[in-house]
Amino acid sequence: MLIGPSLLEELGKQARKYVAREICAIISDSNVAPLFADRVEKSLTAAGFRLTLITIPSGEKSKTLQQAGAICDKMIAAGLDRQSFVIGLGGGMVGDISGFVAAIYRRGIPHVQIPTTLLGMVDSSIGGKTGVNTHDGKNLIGAVHHPLLVIDDLDVLKTLPPREFNQGFAEIIKHAVIADDKMFRKLQSWRARSPRRSLALESLIKRNIAIKSKIVARDESDRTGERALLNFGHTVGHAIERAGDYRRFLHGEALSLGIVAACAISIRRAGLAPDQRDAIVDLLRQFELPTTLPKNFPREKVFDALKLDKKFEGGKVRFVVTPRVGAAHLANDVTLDDIREAVTQL
Ligand SMILES: NC(=O)c1ccc[n+]([C@@H]2O[C@H](COP(=O)([O-])OP(=O)(O)OC[C@H]3O[C@@H](n4cnc5c(N)ncnc54)[C@H](O)[C@@H]3O)[C@@H](O)[C@H]2O)c1
Ligand SMILES: [Zn+2]
Repeated sequence: MLIGPSLLEELGKQARKYVAREICAIISDSNVAPLFADRVEKSLTAAGFRLTLITIPSGEKSKTLQQAGAICDKMIAAGLDRQSFVIGLGGGMVGDISGFVAAIYRRGIPHVQIPTTLLGMVDSSIGGKTGVNTHDGKNLIGAVHHPLLVIDDLDVLKTLPPREFNQGFAEIIKHAVIADDKMFRKLQSWRARSPRRSLALESLIKRNIAIKSKIVARDESDRTGERALLNFGHTVGHAIERAGDYRRFLHGEALSLGIVAACAISIRRAGLAPDQRDAIVDLLRQFELPTTLPKNFPREKVFDALKLDKKFEGGKVRFVVTPRVGAAHLANDVTLDDIREAVTQL
């Protein structure tokens, strides 16, 4: 894992240290490729790599099995073999599909991730989950395939639209709530207009990588419940995302609303103090994240989406609650009615 400014220019040199292979495919999307592919290609070519750039349309609609197949076909046509590797240059969408392609191409070749969104840096590039969506839902097909190398160049964040930048903070605030009260206090005094390249941002990203990595390492295969803590705010968040047809809210925005709902439930079921809930809501607002649903938003659709959630099978609900900022656990006494009420209050 490398993190810092101006890393794209050094990519070739750095990759040489970690990857003993010559040929690679760079997978990127139609927004990101025009911004950074040139620099990446130059740096890799100068270090003696041979490469093929594969650009797919930006947006979640590209994260399909069909698109993964089309990428594999292009890689075969370009002569990539078992001795090649894949670079994912983009946000979480590109990270997930390029990782999935790396996992299945010739039964698995190395994956290098260059996340270009804040969400990609603090969340999706960590933990090894890769995959694509199907008609019925998100990330239903996938593989665990840890990247060989992750390169976080802070400069790439400068072109990120403000909404995309802010949604990364929803995952950061989630990490603070479940695992780090000190980081929570730091965020409270975060200057909203801090330059995106600041040292503060670098240390914040590092801290978030450490938090997620530690939780993942304790529960690599999602068995003990530890990794499930990362789903804090996501049960309701996912339902809101789906109810908005994945267009109304970005993932981090829906998560922000899901965190507010999870706090209401935590007051009831985990003894969270109301003033701590207020502090969490204030912090989400500080990063311009939504904390209430628009009046006319179809709440019924949120309830429908909740019912589709596998976690509710058999009546027992596993729901992540927080008793205080910096801690979280799984509760199994949360009912669908608790969740309904929390969504109604949003
Ligand atoms: N694997 C995991 O553990 C994991 C975890 C969380 C999320 N995810 C996945 O991540 C995806 C969401 O990630 P995301 O929010 O990064 O979305 P994204 O990759 O779709 O990027 C968001 C938008 O920003 C654009 N963009 C990216 N970098 C840019 C830059 N530097 N400058 C300007 N524009 C830029 C993209 O083209 C896109 O339009 C979802 O598919 C989600 O399922 C995966
Ligand atoms: Zn998330």
